[in-house]
Amino acid sequence: MSEKIPHSLIRTTESFIRDEFYGEGTGHDWFHIDRVRRSALQIALEEKGDPVMVELIALLHDLGDRKLHHGDENAAPRLIRSFLDSQGLESHLTEHIIHEIVSISYKGESGETKPGTLEGLIVQDADRLDAIGAIGIARAFAYGGARDRLLYDPNDPPRTGMDAEAYKNHKSHTVNHFYEKLLLLHQRMNTATAQRMASDRHRFMEGYLAQFFDEWNGRA
Ligand code: ADP
Ligand code: NI
Repeated sequence: MSEKIPHSLIRTTESFIRDEFYGEGTGHDWFHIDRVRRSALQIALEEKGDPVMVELIALLHDLGDRKLHHGDENAAPRLIRSFLDSQGLESHLTEHIIHEIVSISYKGESGETKPGTLEGLIVQDADRLDAIGAIGIARAFAYGGARDRLLYDPNDPPRTGMDAEAYKNHKSHTVNHFYEKLLLLHQRMNTATAQRMASDRHRFMEGYLAQFFDEWNGRA
């Protein structure tokens, strides 16, 4: 399928996305997209995914994300379609890419959606790897700060089992985000390569939270 994607489109997409996302302040900046692109390509090499399709999906995966557009679910299809149409990509390829991207995003513990192709699954893994570990911790608190959320509130325990609707409407402090998403991700990686990459990052978050609570409770 990706033989129809010219290399020049990858370069144009990269420069468009770099300009759009460079200084984004909620942890979805250009360097997030670039890390996702690089780890997706690394996973694709091991898992034999198509690198051109992987790179294009990775570069576009956060364009129009509802979190960055006041909850608007239509922003992603609209913006991705408008960009790819302007580049003259065949419309069935554009629709395929949109279909993969809208299913990548996390939608709650019981609201999981999966991309339909290996390339989409690889980008979902890479996006999730960047949500955990040391960088994942930094991104979570950056997002919480940008949205005026508390670091932690012991009176507001995490919710389990949220479906897509509940997850979308749920607003809580950032420590809850670890229990409602970040600590669940290592078991939800699609590829064996990403499962391996996730395990150290997962352990690091567990250690971090243990230290966080020790300090909170005056034990450290
Ligand atoms: P996804 O599409 O799966 O949500 P993104 O690349 O859009 O993945 O980034 C998600 C990241 O945004 C989370 O991993 C976290 O860092 C941050 N984030 C999203 N929601 C919250 C929240 N409620 N609290 C803290 N961080 C959040
Ligand atoms: Ni992302």
